[in-house]
Amino acid sequence: MNPSIAAAVEILHNSALVACLTGAGVSAESGVPTFRDAQTGLWARYDPQRLASPQGFADDPGLVWRWYMARLAGVERAMPNAGHRALAEMERRWPGFALITQNVDDLHERAGSTNVIHLHGNIARFHCHDCGSSHNVQIEERTFPQPPRCALCGGNIRPSVVWFGETLPHSSLAAAVAAVSACDALLVIGTSGLVYPAAELPLIAKRAGSRVIEINPEPGPLSVLTDVALRGPSGELLPQLLGIGE
Ligand code: OAD
Repeated sequence: MNPSIAAAVEILHNSALVACLTGAGVSAESGVPTFRDAQTGLWARYDPQRLASPQGFADDPGLVWRWYMARLAGVERAMPNAGHRALAEMERRWPGFALITQNVDDLHERAGSTNVIHLHGNIARFHCHDCGSSHNVQIEERTFPQPPRCALCGGNIRPSVVWFGETLPHSSLAAAVAAVSACDALLVIGTSGLVYPAAELPLIAKRAGSRVIEINPEPGPLSVLTDVALRGPSGELLPQLLGIGE
């Protein structure tokens, strides 16, 4: 066994409470693009201020709506990969396992995880940008060039994701902070560690005495905190970590 994997296995073996923070990299092998990878990342091709900010939505609601509906279609076509399935298996093996994700897709749930904390919302849910009421969006409305209108106030309907400049759902952030403060080991998987407050969670875990295991093909700003770094794709490394031969 690769010595880094052996070290990570030992940490997990000695940990009663395990938590995990995932980012876009965990869904990369499912064909869902990441944000910051140099060639394939969404923010290499699109301007986040135009597409993922309240100002961008005010300036051109149709552009933002069409972009998110195209991304939603991509997420729905994607299938969970071996990394998502291994994390669902971890929930079965470690009672109290907390899975915190920055991803707005539902691939963790479709792989079998039942208790997922979504820090940045869910691309398949919708609410009114003006009055905040939740809305169901019909399948044909997704193809509209402009967002549907709120039946209550006439405002524009938007996906229930967190945009730049917006605050995270309070209950999700509180649950994530509680989980990383209590865990014995934190896995940090497929995130560049550049977006706050999510990127602060590994630091909170470390300060509270947790061991930190990173899984990412590339080192990043969070790597300095890690006890063990596994360099490679999570769809290959997570099954190895659990000894499941996918
Ligand atoms: P990024 O695109 O910033 O980072 C993706 C990370 O995944 C990078 O560190 C890659 O090296 C790594 N990666 C790529 N392929 C991988 C693989 N097969 N296995 C494991 N890791 C892999 O994505 P996030 O860190 O998730 O915010 O981005 C954080 C937030 O920024 C997102 O939630 C989104 C974005 O703006 C909102 O939508 C609010």
